Amino acid sequence: MKTVLVTGGAGYIGSHACKALKAAGYRPVTFDNLVTGWKDAVKFGPFGQGDLQDRARLDEVFAKHKPVAGCILLHSVRSAKP
Ligand SMILES: NC(=O)c1ccc[n+]([C@@H]2O[C@H](COP(=O)([O-])OP(=O)(O)OC[C@H]3O[C@@H](n4cnc5c(N)ncnc54)[C@H](O)[C@@H]3O)[C@@H](O)[C@H]2O)c1
Repeated sequence: MKTVLVTGGAGYIGSHACKALKAAGYRPVTFDNLVTGWKDAVKFGPFGQGDLQDRARLDEVFAKHKPVAGCILLHSVRSAKP
């Protein structure tokens, strides 16, 4: 199964992207720091918690999950978590 890394995958748009990727036969790996996202929203593949500014953590997640099919970038700080 081809793997896709989804940054912001625990957010609103990212979690829907993961659902659609799974339905299309991909394995979505969420990379998210949970600043506004929710771990419970990660339902369609593995979760790697981390910040995109943390290069070492990003390298770990890439090495572990090998997202060969690509990356979808949906991280943002658009909204505040209540
Ligand atoms: N929500 C909408 O209706 C909508 C519509 C069109 C476009 N968009 C765009 O889609 C993108 C995502 O929007 P959303 O509504 O899903 O927002 P959201 O806040 O629900 O999701 C953003 C995710 O990014 C994560 N994140 C933020 N900074 C991060 C970092 N440094 N490292 C790792 N993860 C980080 C957050 O924890 C969160 O899970 C934005 O660019 C937004 O402008 C949203």
